[in-house]
Amino acid sequence: MKFFIDTANLAQIKEANDLGILDGVTTNPSLMAKEGIKGAAAVRAHYKAICDIVKGDISAEVTATTYDEMIKEGDDLATIASNIVVKIPMIKDGVKAIKYFADKGIRTNCTLIFSAGQAIVAAKAGANFVSPFIGRIDDSNWDGVQLIDQIAQIFSIQGFSTEILAASIRNPLHIVRCAEAGADICTCPLDSILGLLKHPLTDIGLAKFIEDSKKFI
Ligand code: E4P
Repeated sequence: MKFFIDTANLAQIKEANDLGILDGVTTNPSLMAKEGIKGAAAVRAHYKAICDIVKGDISAEVTATTYDEMIKEGDDLATIASNIVVKIPMIKDGVKAIKYFADKGIRTNCTLIFSAGQAIVAAKAGANFVSPFIGRIDDSNWDGVQLIDQIAQIFSIQGFSTEILAASIRNPLHIVRCAEAGADICTCPLDSILGLLKHPLTDIGLAKFIEDSKKFI
């Protein structure tokens, strides 16, 4: 399973990349706004800065919601760097835009996926990635990981090559459960990635090893 970081914060992207296990980055308009990025030129420059740090896939989301505007914006985003993946919302015009980009050889990530039906349509249109938002499903009193499991089964039975990019990850256990359910990628906040490293018995064990090493060094 691949690891993406879900942020537009350059310091966090660098920290995750330095770990040596980062395969890509996802952003969205809310994450860009959080970093205070304003205006088309600043957005472009920020995506370029992210692409310069991480060699893997970088999802850049369109803000338009009509077909014509989405393809204009996506065509432009795709020129920023060869590792840009155009992120398109799961709406009717978005599906048409995914097909347009697939025919053009521009990679897409279909975002805001909350059902298996939406994932099937995005895959049929030629999306390279589908992003089911598991944390937001959990928030609505449903099990988000079950959706990953269902989509993984469908894509395997139907032979879809679209990758399942589990999004809206809230904690380390989400990552483990998504891996178990067959997600191809988890896009995670830095805290959730770092949380995977932690175990109290590791800390206790290491403290003892350090103490005992003083006896013979
Ligand atoms: C995915 O690509 C989205 O950017 C993200 O995972 C949404 O997460 P949230 O539900 O924590 O906002």
